[in-house]
Amino acid sequence: MPQICFEQNDGSSVTVEANAGQTLMHEALRHGIVGIIGECGGSCMCATCHIHLKDPEKFGLGGISEMEEAMLELEGEDITPHSRLACQIEITPQLDGLIVTVASTGD
Ligand code: FES
Repeated sequence: MPQICFEQNDGSSVTVEANAGQTLMHEALRHGIVGIIGECGGSCMCATCHIHLKDPEKFGLGGISEMEEAMLELEGEDITPHSRLACQIEITPQLDGLIVTVASTGD
């Protein structure tokens, strides 16, 4: 199982064993990661799963899609070059060791 580390803005972090085939959002919820709400259930309609990826290129992850970016803008989130919506990232074995920072404070 790939291990994914979720960091918070206060410097704390939790590393979880994630199920391949699920989304990062789903696995964050399953492990009770603070700040990931997943209000829309993963349909890219809420931005309550905003994260920042560390070294996404190293894990073969692409950049933000137009739909993700539009949703983050709509919700007034601060977008960085490594911003993504966790519900739009499927976990694969290749993501073992990935570090993500939870962007939102859960509002
Ligand atoms: S859960 Fe709503 S956009 Fe990701």
